[in-house]
Amino acid sequence: EGGWTGVNERTFIAVKPDGVQRRLLGEIVRRFEKRGFKLVAVKLVKASEELLREHYWQLRNKPFYSTLISYMSSGPVVAMVWQGLDVVKTARKMLGETNPADSLPGTIRGDFCVEVGKNVIHGSDSVESAQKEIALWFRQSELHRWESSTKTWIY
Ligand code: PPS
Repeated sequence: EGGWTGVNERTFIAVKPDGVQRRLLGEIVRRFEKRGFKLVAVKLVKASEELLREHYWQLRNKPFYSTLISYMSSGPVVAMVWQGLDVVKTARKMLGETNPADSLPGTIRGDFCVEVGKNVIHGSDSVESAQKEIALWFRQSELHRWESSTKTWIY
């Protein structure tokens, strides 16, 4: 397996239940594809509370923690892994700020939502979190390995 940085960098993206319900999946996938990233894995999942507790473990003492867990369990989410140069940082820029009110137009949150409690999409905040989140949501066998075509991938 190649390194976790450079063109092989991967990030975990989840379209949250409100995004799925509002049929924003196609638009979101389109933006990642058009930006130049490669899809490595995708699935529609009704996340268990156990998985969500693990995913949001660092937020367990926040006042909004239980609201966040029930929001994320309110319907299926679309879990995805995207790969490419600097994908972690670039994806976060494409998402916009955590609070949609602070997100610029042109970003996913800046274009499609208004409240932090229904902010449509999650993206890993670092390469390290991405590795943990990918391992939590996906089995190794679910991740597609793009072969040497990475060398000729056009951004
Ligand atoms: S923190 O405090 O910096 O860790 O929080 P932040 O990184 O801004 O956000 C972490 C995740 O918590 C969600 N969040 C909220 N959900 C519901 N209500 C409120 N008030 C709220 N504030 C933050 C936020 O969307 C982040 O979720 P993800 O899924 O990572 O985007």
